Amino acid sequence: MPERRPRLEGKVAVVTGAGTSGEGVGNGKAAAVLFAREGAKVLLVDMAADRAEETRVMIEEEGGVASVFQADVTDGDECAAMAQAAVDRYGRLDILDNNVGISARGSVVDVTEEIWDRIMTVNVKTIYQASRACIPKMMETGGGAIVNISSIAGLRAHSQAPYTTSKAAVVGITISMAGDHGPDNIRVNCIAPGLVYTPMVAHRMNDEQREARKNAAPLRTEGDSWDVAYAALFLCSDEARWINGVVLPVDAGLLTVTPVTYNTISGQARF
Ligand SMILES: NC(=O)c1ccc[n+]([C@@H]2O[C@H](COP(=O)([O-])OP(=O)(O)OC[C@H]3O[C@@H](n4cnc5c(N)ncnc54)[C@H](O)[C@@H]3O)[C@@H](O)[C@H]2O)c1
Repeated sequence: MPERRPRLEGKVAVVTGAGTSGEGVGNGKAAAVLFAREGAKVLLVDMAADRAEETRVMIEEEGGVASVFQADVTDGDECAAMAQAAVDRYGRLDILDNNVGISARGSVVDVTEEIWDRIMTVNVKTIYQASRACIPKMMETGGGAIVNISSIAGLRAHSQAPYTTSKAAVVGITISMAGDHGPDNIRVNCIAPGLVYTPMVAHRMNDEQREARKNAAPLRTEGDSWDVAYAALFLCSDEARWINGVVLPVDAGLLTVTPVTYNTISGQARF
């Protein structure tokens, strides 16, 4: 059997939200670790530097290469500095994982205008800002790959009007960028994680709710951040060289069994 080359050998990746909001491993941290394991040099971007620092330690303990860049990716100037830092530190920029995102519950009647604007800014504008800064750097070296983290909440009702709207917009910006930048050899794809158990949601979940989430999807197994990160690794690798503009659910098949409804607020599944 021929020896396998690391799948991202020679590449430089930027991961936004590369820390985790709590104990354990979130989607951004898992993606950064897998990218580094497969040979990429990774710029770990987070507005909370201490969170990204934990990811850096994890990567370096495994012998990988990574460094922290503190930035609020809602800000255009900070995103420009982030893209420049990747090039200054590692010589190029090939991969962008637009992972930053926050959730908000409630219907359009419940949600305040302030929360609405905040969710749109953090979940959608960050992708615009980070991509706007990184794409020209990718073009300088002949192309690249971007993965945007949406959610199945962007594809079906979830009692989270602003979150669903923002995550549907992530699908929209993916499609638009894929069309605009395919000719630059920049592929842009999107992952829609399902009811994965991550630190982002763990704090608001008891065992019963966790079990109901697990059993809502046909596979009846619990997903975690590594499931999302393996999908990101594939989409950002050259193995996906002919895949552009897709929305990949990573959800144990939950979307196939609609109209099962799962209320993320009450934690009750209805079949
Ligand atoms: N956990 C789930 O069940 C689930 C399901 C579907 C989709 N998602 C999506 O996964 C993504 C998040 O995954 P995670 O597990 O890494 O979340 P996380 O909350 O553990 O980590 C996100 C990190 O982003 C950072 N961050 C937040 N706003 C920022 C900003 N403006 N600038 C820079 N950094 C910022 C936080 O400090 C945090 O460290 C989100 O897009 C979320 O919507 C999660």
